[in-house]
Amino acid sequence: MEVIIRPTTAQAVELTARLLADTVKAKPACKLGLATGATMEAVYDVLVKMNKAGEVDFSQVTSFNLDEYIGLGPDDVNSYRYYMNHHLFDHINIDKRNTHLPNGLAEDELAEGINYEADIEDAGGIDVQLLGIGNDGHVGFNEPGSSLSSRTRAKSLTPVTYRQNCVYFNPPESMPKRAFTMGVGTILDANRVILLITGARKAEIAARAIEGPVTSMVTASALQMHPNTVVILDADAAAQLTLKEYYDWVFANEPKWKNYR
Ligand code: PGA
Repeated sequence: MEVIIRPTTAQAVELTARLLADTVKAKPACKLGLATGATMEAVYDVLVKMNKAGEVDFSQVTSFNLDEYIGLGPDDVNSYRYYMNHHLFDHINIDKRNTHLPNGLAEDELAEGINYEADIEDAGGIDVQLLGIGNDGHVGFNEPGSSLSSRTRAKSLTPVTYRQNCVYFNPPESMPKRAFTMGVGTILDANRVILLITGARKAEIAARAIEGPVTSMVTASALQMHPNTVVILDADAAAQLTLKEYYDWVFANEPKWKNYR
């Protein structure tokens, strides 16, 4: 796990977007794993600007999102399909036929998970998986207690996640209590993982995920087992990390970060 701390949220977001854009430049037909949530909106803003400026071309990219609420269709403003169209896909030159999310209206839940896994495998696997972290330490909707080898499936959300996300629903009680999510095992199969964590409210869970024990109680901690994960934090989210000086040292000295400093 590499840990990079940037002084401001904007700089953490900028670095995340640049790493994603550089992936696409190096491999135009790459497979991106994408995430939703408030944190990612700023990342997608940057990618949209880069695409409009002709700096990055998404025409050959295939994407797979982490998760989708069960019971919400693509036209529901709270579905993650709607979020992705609204924040990214409608504004870049990606072919929407190559963008994938679990179908929140799937009747056969078991089959939906199996089919989503098969689609990822048929595409050749995910090159880079973008992740945020929930207040309860989840990645995707892999809530505490999720198997660290889980695959895409239906999952009941925790009350913590419910409270975190119901504010976006009107009325708040209309938020679904279940979702389809890639599993922790699915995420760990990605070639590279980029986890972006910003804001003071994430400081405690960030420290547990990065420096605490690997445990299904904080599914993001499973990324410690992944050979190619970079965690990007702003200073507020990094506040409770104990090895800050070392992380800064690595970023300042590793040749591969030269162009990003
Ligand atoms: P947030 O969500 O970006 O809205 O904080 C992240 C998550 O729950 O994974």
